[in-house]
Amino acid sequence: MLVAPSILSADFGKLNEDIIKICDGGCDLIHVDVMDGHFVPNMTIGPVVVNAVAKIATKPLDIHLMVEDNNFFIDLFAHLKPEYISFHIESEKHPHRIIQKLRSLGIKPAIVLNPHTNPESIEYLIEDLDMVLLMSVNPGFGGQKFIESVVEKTKQLKEMINKRNPACLIQIDGGVSNKNIQELKDAGVDVVVAGSYVYGSDDIPAAIKSLQI
Ligand code: DX5
Ligand code: ZN
Repeated sequence: MLVAPSILSADFGKLNEDIIKICDGGCDLIHVDVMDGHFVPNMTIGPVVVNAVAKIATKPLDIHLMVEDNNFFIDLFAHLKPEYISFHIESEKHPHRIIQKLRSLGIKPAIVLNPHTNPESIEYLIEDLDMVLLMSVNPGFGGQKFIESVVEKTKQLKEMINKRNPACLIQIDGGVSNKNIQELKDAGVDVVVAGSYVYGSDDIPAAIKSLQI
């Protein structure tokens, strides 16, 4: 299991330190939540801060866009060469075009599904994706309760992936901790995002390790 701590739960007054903590603590990716106040009812960080994060980071960036205008934000972040950029299927009229754009920029494309969105909505995109992110909370805030129905949805998605593109990873975001990590692993999850669990721990390396099962 790969672990991508979400810096949304970091202390932004000492962001530098908090990024070093997860990198030195053995994380696999750094999950960066970008919100525009329109697609979700919250705003987080834009290019100025993400540029600063990229300078400090010693692990690849995994940028999660929760925005209405994906094209605009991709243009802002492409030069940072993140490993992944994920965008919501619910906010994009031309997902296939966005995937091609990310690919041409050398960025691995990923699509995000909100808790209510059926995996069948992306059945004909799976062949072109490197990762699918299933939201296990409603996007917008850290520290929310895990929505249990995502476990069954993961199994359904896994079947589609096995048929159409076995190399495509499944990522889960929201309410992940050492309490549900085994259940997620058993359902077929490859990458977990964890914000409050990792940053709320007194021992960040141990918290990361407890998810790398
Ligand atoms: C929510 C974000 C998540 C969030 C996860 O919109 O996409 O990445 O930071 O936080 P936890 O792990 O606290 O649920
Ligand atoms: Zn996220």
